[in-house]
Amino acid sequence: MIRRFGRRKFIEHILEELDIEKHRLQRSLNAFDLTVLGIGAIIGVGIFVLTGAAAANYAGPGIILSFVISGAACALTALCYAELASSIPVAGSAYNYAYATMGEMIAWIIGWDLILEYIVACIAVAIGWSGYLVNILSAIGIQVPVWCSAAPGTVPGAVINLPAVLIVLFLTAMLVIGIKESARFTGAMVFVKSITILVFILVGISHVNPANWSPFFPFGLKGVVAGAAIVFFAYIGFDALSTAAEETKNPQRNMPIGILCSLAICTALYITVAAVLTGMVPHTRLNTPAPVAHALTLTGFRWGSALVSAGAVAGITSVLTVMLMGQPRIFFSMARDGLIWPWLSKVHPRFHTPYVSQILTGVVVAGFAGFVDIGTAAELCNIGTLFAFTIVCGGVVVLRRTHPELHRAFRCPMVPWVPLLGILLCGGLMLSLPKVTWFRFIGWLFAGLIIYFSYGMWNSRLNVQKPSTKENNNGKNPGFKP
Ligand code: ALA
Repeated sequence: MIRRFGRRKFIEHILEELDIEKHRLQRSLNAFDLTVLGIGAIIGVGIFVLTGAAAANYAGPGIILSFVISGAACALTALCYAELASSIPVAGSAYNYAYATMGEMIAWIIGWDLILEYIVACIAVAIGWSGYLVNILSAIGIQVPVWCSAAPGTVPGAVINLPAVLIVLFLTAMLVIGIKESARFTGAMVFVKSITILVFILVGISHVNPANWSPFFPFGLKGVVAGAAIVFFAYIGFDALSTAAEETKNPQRNMPIGILCSLAICTALYITVAAVLTGMVPHTRLNTPAPVAHALTLTGFRWGSALVSAGAVAGITSVLTVMLMGQPRIFFSMARDGLIWPWLSKVHPRFHTPYVSQILTGVVVAGFAGFVDIGTAAELCNIGTLFAFTIVCGGVVVLRRTHPELHRAFRCPMVPWVPLLGILLCGGLMLSLPKVTWFRFIGWLFAGLIIYFSYGMWNSRLNVQKPSTKENNNGKNPGFKP
């Protein structure tokens, strides 16, 4: 029985599956498409919403440093993701990497953890979207009643966050009938988001009052790290890029370029926005659902505030679409391996979309988005993602030892030091998240293990795994060449 937990998918089989898998996806994305897709998935609620509360409650102007810390954790992990995505270019990302390196049980835990990451990310993003929509409507004189615009317990009189529920249901319906964001639409959204951020920086910079940066660390360095654990959310999305590896042309070259470029561009924008935002208004005034727009209103730029709100709503919509689309891909990979029920990967006969998992995701996300607060969702998402990141970093070290011959178009520099530092930073950020978030996370993993022991373990396709090519070749592993 113990052997089952540790059994690994042979890398040779994963790579063979790429060619023979009848569900194989079309390869059409290049490095530029991936960078655009990455920025499309990354910039959203983290910078437009969470920066405000994190600065007001945890880090003060030190939030600038928080962005540097979580950006560094992501950069180290991105180098590891890039190596794994360039050597095992299949859908499912961290889940498949773990399956090949650390065995089935860890792979199950990661897959289950990614399901949590996507679901709670969608919940947080939908809530952030709602905050900016309500802000725009109020700017044009339409007041959405409090009872239907926030989760209970967040504002007096609030009952349900209806805009958040409705946007999720609407996008789910769109994804089920197959109206995905086309590459052109994603490109347009990335343009809108970037312009929105640049407008904010250009308008805001002339209103920076350096006195607002003092004291720089009102809550000490502990506050800065706690802030980093929150704004880490702003970087989530670059990892989703690796789920598109099966749809990428020459993934060994293009995947690392896409991951690293999108992350570098976003980090530069975030640090600048954080500096301008905390320089424009005292950090104590940033605890609102739409802080970036609010800072412009406070400094007298009503038009700027309306423009930023409109840009944020459009930009956040594209993040939500990408995140909602990502979830069925994880189900798809796990169901393909027999670890979860096959009906979850059912494809619609007419629309050719994974409609069962898409609808299930939509209903669960909409259900929670109406009733929880954004902080709770973002923290749970962060802990799950950080956990997956530590496994990915560990995977690079393990794979270098178990498969030294594997063709790696991109090699993470300074192994094992870069992955180990990545594990240390991600682990440190996890530790600064609240205890209650840890309890929720452990509860989720525990539920996952029950499903694994009662279903996954018995139905895994590895129960009938053929010997690896390595064995067929008398120990000579041909490695993977693109
Ligand atoms: N990074 C994405 C956002 O901030 C999830 O919305």
